[in-house]
Amino acid sequence: MQALLDTLAPGSDEWKLALSLDPSRLPAHIAVIMDGNGRWANQRSLPRVAGHKAGVEPVRTTVESCARLGIGSLTLYAFSVENWKRPQSEVETLWRLLRYYLHREMPALMKNGIRFKAIGRIEGLPPSVRHELREVMERTAANPGMTLNVAINYGGRSEIVDAVNALLDQARREGTLDRLRLDEDLLASALHTAGQPEPDLLIRTSGEMRISNFLLWQIAYAELYVTETLWPDFDRKELLCAIQAYQKRDRRFGGIHASGQRNLDEPILEAVPVPAR
Ligand code: FPP
Repeated sequence: MQALLDTLAPGSDEWKLALSLDPSRLPAHIAVIMDGNGRWANQRSLPRVAGHKAGVEPVRTTVESCARLGIGSLTLYAFSVENWKRPQSEVETLWRLLRYYLHREMPALMKNGIRFKAIGRIEGLPPSVRHELREVMERTAANPGMTLNVAINYGGRSEIVDAVNALLDQARREGTLDRLRLDEDLLASALHTAGQPEPDLLIRTSGEMRISNFLLWQIAYAELYVTETLWPDFDRKELLCAIQAYQKRDRRFGGIHASGQRNLDEPILEAVPVPAR
């Protein structure tokens, strides 16, 4: 947290927002559906790819701010398994921007101790992109700080299917298939995010109220924060607002809050009629 405060102008809105956060209750994992690049470009009569290009700066700011805040994991949704349906020129621009980002940000990833991880069906990507991703993953693997997961050629359903198949293959290899029994921990151990905390906060930009096949297993208890802001306009202030909103949520994980609610419930229960047999 202090590392972020050190970069902010004292008295600025961002500084006040950062100071208002409780450092002991920061989300351990933030996931982001970066949406609205196309609309941002449309509003300016620009080609869609101009929106993606403008979307690189908020990636940089979000990654650096989360690392400085002390967030454990940040997962960005960059390209879904469904995004192949887009025009080839748009898809190729996205690969170029990803490679540009990785190349340009390598020193910042090292300086901030960030571990980079590409999650998704990486083997389905063009060889140049695969190569770049592997190189950045290897070079940052020993970094001690935040894990930055970038979801590329990613789908929540395909991740679960791949995880189950990997467990079946492993059991077949080890001759334990007849004894294999899945449970939640075993399945989670075969997901791309194995070993990382589940997202506490899921941010989606551009106002869409959808999950879009993102981290379906992992977001079971995530708090959702949807902002109308289009991704290219998402800045540090918005990020801090999302975390502030998260800290005001009452997270119960299916239980009840440990306040004096029992006394309030009792008269209601007494009033519930018991059907006569
Ligand atoms: C969704 O907007 C955004 C994407 C599919 C791509 C996100 C990519 C970037 C932000 C740039 C590069 C990424 C990294 C990690 C460096 P959309 O095109 O669906 O917008 P629309 O719904 O308004 O059409």
